[in-house]
Amino acid sequence: MTIELLRFTTAGSVDDGKSTLIGRLLYDTKSLFEDQIQQIEAVSEKRGDEYVDLALFTDGLRAEREQKITIDVAYRYFATPRRKFIIADTPGHIQYTRNMVTGASTAELAIVLIDARKGVLTQSKRHGFIATLLQIPHIVVAINKMDLVDYDETVYRNIVRDYSDFVSKLNAKNVTFIPVSALEGDNVVDPSPKTPWYEGPTLLHHLEHVNVGASRNQTDFRFPVQYVLRPNQDFRGYAGQLASGRVRPGDEVAVFPSGLESTIKEVVTANGNLEEAVAGDSVVITLADEIDISRGDMIVRTGNLPQKSNEIDTTICWMSEDAFDPSKTYQLQHTTRLVRAMVTELTYKIDVDTLRRTDADVLKLNEIGRVQLTTTRPLFYDRYNANRNTGSFILIDPATNNTVAAGMIRGESRDVDDLLDGEADKNAITASHRKRSANVVWEAGALSVSEREALNGHKGAVLWFTGLSGSGKSTVAKLLERKLYERKVHTMFLDGDNLRHGLNGDLGFAPEDRAENIRRVSEVAALGYSHGNIVLCSFISPYQRDRDFARSIVPEGQFLEIYAKCDLDVLKRRDPKGLYAKALSGEIKNFTGISAPYEAPENPELVIETDVATPDALVAQLISLLESRGII
Ligand code: ADX
Repeated sequence: MTIELLRFTTAGSVDDGKSTLIGRLLYDTKSLFEDQIQQIEAVSEKRGDEYVDLALFTDGLRAEREQKITIDVAYRYFATPRRKFIIADTPGHIQYTRNMVTGASTAELAIVLIDARKGVLTQSKRHGFIATLLQIPHIVVAINKMDLVDYDETVYRNIVRDYSDFVSKLNAKNVTFIPVSALEGDNVVDPSPKTPWYEGPTLLHHLEHVNVGASRNQTDFRFPVQYVLRPNQDFRGYAGQLASGRVRPGDEVAVFPSGLESTIKEVVTANGNLEEAVAGDSVVITLADEIDISRGDMIVRTGNLPQKSNEIDTTICWMSEDAFDPSKTYQLQHTTRLVRAMVTELTYKIDVDTLRRTDADVLKLNEIGRVQLTTTRPLFYDRYNANRNTGSFILIDPATNNTVAAGMIRGESRDVDDLLDGEADKNAITASHRKRSANVVWEAGALSVSEREALNGHKGAVLWFTGLSGSGKSTVAKLLERKLYERKVHTMFLDGDNLRHGLNGDLGFAPEDRAENIRRVSEVAALGYSHGNIVLCSFISPYQRDRDFARSIVPEGQFLEIYAKCDLDVLKRRDPKGLYAKALSGEIKNFTGISAPYEAPENPELVIETDVATPDALVAQLISLLESRGII
């Protein structure tokens, strides 16, 4: 029989005695190595401490680790004859929210520490709130430092009453209170004679006996692909960890996003093949058919599919010193998939003390809010309350690469109740981040995109050329259009200068005007796409956020961002329209590349170097891109 494993996380600052508590657990369960114990005893003695300073163990070990690796969460292991334990712990200087959130996705229990002298603080409420939000099944409220309040039962009872009041509003289940002194060891591992009025279990006893495993989703097979292994011609396997559910050879599966189906051939591990793998197992899966799968794809069972959407309704915990800025684009990591995310709406933030919702423009460190996000590529997810693994994500600031928030998916974005189904409406303008007049309903067309595509003999697509003025976007797009015409391909050509005659004639070149320009032309491009065309768009479109919007309203795989890259000095020399000279002399303001920014695409489908290759050569590259994508 394998010993059961309990993963838990601790919430509380160093002042609350978190390190001491962990140290005490390890010390009293004899989980420390003999030499570590001697070392700690020696240091404590040398310092003249009255007690063995157990925090030294926790913090000392941590300091050692921090020098070598920078990780947010350190995992500590210990075991008793009954159970194995993994504690997700974090360096003291990192905020507690981050600790809890990062360590909590697999945690089954959270210890919330309250200093008996201080009572229930906002921070203690926040911990309970986050634990509930994260749906950690068990909460232990360790009322610590009982020695400093003379083991007074009334102090304990008052805290239990105050905190129970609070958690009852949260619908928290399984909340257990334990009076402890981590320093003296009361009720941590051994029952304390100093609290005769307390009849409950010790902390360790509770940890050893809580019911575990119930929180894992064992039903829905979700396998986010981490790596594709291809050691030789004959073997192709997909490595990853089962986020949930179970899998056996012979199971019929579908692959997201392609939708292709196959059958599980083998479930391989370093120790041989498995009859069955379950949630949490890291394995390599092979399939009966050769299908194109890459990192970030997800293998699931046919008939039990995740949700698929690029608009999600979420709750996020903001974990960065820099406030959450809804106008910024963030990177969103969901299972093994990394996409860009734009904020459609910060719906409200939650006041943790009162549990009230309030309007907010930003979220500051440790604040929690409800946020609607739009991602450039769709996510395959489950709601957090159905699956903690495929229902959670983190946000990363692309400028610093720091994790700035942890989020839980509540479902598809609000305001999309009226989203219409059906192929014909793939492109219906109902998405919540798109503007819409009051009292309008999308009128489904008579023909679906695929019917039009079948008629045309090629797929629809949007080719988005971006780059500085004069970089050759339109030259290449026009030459490509001619070549496509010769192959009887239906196209549309949208050009910045042209659309600024008429449709966008009211707009200038300030950032908000450019955003509006791109918003309008993106909608035109999406309409062109939905009528089966290959739409060639040639816009400077200097902001990634605006280009991300254009991408977000076209089905995944049908939007190709093409970066026309050209050296600025070459452009100044060429200057076909004489605009650079004017910009340099100050006659034209806000000129891209001179007096206004250009954000080069971070992840374009293709870069064409217009100052190096001839237009013919670039068009050849584009044609082969379209062929390899199965568009023509
Ligand atoms: S975008 O920035 O909003 O995407 P768009 O592609 O529509 O620009 O229009 C760019 C064209 O407008 C340029 O090719 C150039 O001919 C002209 N133009 C006039 N003023 C400016 C300016 N300040 N910055 C860039 N292009 C300008």
